[in-house]
Amino acid sequence: MNFKLAVLPGDGIGPEVTDQALKVLRTVETTFGHRFDCHFADMGAIAIDKHGDPLPQATLDTCLAADAILFGAIGHPRFDNDPTAKVRPEQGLLRLRKSLGLFANIRPVTVYPNLLHLSPLREEKVRGVDFVIFRELTGGIYFGEKGKTEDSAFDNCVYTKIEVERIARLAFEYARQRRNKLTLVDKANVLETSRFWRKIVFDLCAAEYPDVQLDWMYVDNAAMQIIQFPTSFDVVLTENMFGDILSDEASVLAGSLGMLPSASVGAKVALFEPIHGSYPQAAGKDIANPLAAILSAAMLLDHLSLTDEANTVREAVQSVLEAGYGTADLQAAQTVGCAKMGDLVSGKVGEMAGVVA
Ligand code: IPM
Ligand code: MN
Repeated sequence: MNFKLAVLPGDGIGPEVTDQALKVLRTVETTFGHRFDCHFADMGAIAIDKHGDPLPQATLDTCLAADAILFGAIGHPRFDNDPTAKVRPEQGLLRLRKSLGLFANIRPVTVYPNLLHLSPLREEKVRGVDFVIFRELTGGIYFGEKGKTEDSAFDNCVYTKIEVERIARLAFEYARQRRNKLTLVDKANVLETSRFWRKIVFDLCAAEYPDVQLDWMYVDNAAMQIIQFPTSFDVVLTENMFGDILSDEASVLAGSLGMLPSASVGAKVALFEPIHGSYPQAAGKDIANPLAAILSAAMLLDHLSLTDEANTVREAVQSVLEAGYGTADLQAAQTVGCAKMGDLVSGKVGEMAGVVA
């Protein structure tokens, strides 16, 4: 089949890890007989430098015309220590999420058996960890009214019923395909928005998903339970900022931030990106871990209903890790660079697809 992909390599290590994901997609193309037409566009610091805007209209148009978007990373240290900067790379990503209606960010947290020793937790705690965070992505404090005066500042947190219901539905549906367990994470002992979420999600459960086991947890407790009992979670549903924080916390379970992919879905086209940032210190050095980008490409294949292809990519990653290869962060028996890691996974996909196709 033919698909149109928008590719936004972004900043820092974004371009090099995206290259590896594309390498793997090229192999999927040839071995499974598909065609991915890639349209490249700028977003983030690079777009500020080239066009004076972190999300130029041309980039948005490219995304709107695509079947799916592959995104690398965003951010540059030049902006991080400058609270007065008027334009920031991150604004590009936030505007893209809002403009494309990407209201649900799906972050699977899984651990690979041969990376267990990298986790700061004991192996027996993390063995078998397999949960998914559904993070609301276009509402809450990120997008509420903001303001400041000389001696005060505010960020409003607002949620509407529609915003809560639509992501809750996706999370319930997803739980049904898994272990049928959904945990709503909130701060309902303090926040009005959390009590609002709680009522909507519990009502929806009773009306439409009585078969799903729903429980709730305060976010401070959840932050602790993710470390103490990470295998007890299945699907976690939460609002924008809690999800941002908990998903970085959860990524540590996998041993490296370089392992976790994500999908952002919503009304129109979907976007796939590693959860790690632009890691500027490593940019251009061929040391970054491309697996999160490659696994994001696998989620993109899932989204295009190319399930065998997606599974083949995931199995190829597993098999390369089992063979003892890894980038520096994985402290593998054989340390290889970013490009070589891409070659290895891509080569394995070719080998395995020969058998599947
Ligand atoms: C993420 C990032 C973004 C966020 C930043 C870059 C705006 O941390 O995707 O988790 O906070 O959503
Ligand atoms: Mn984040």
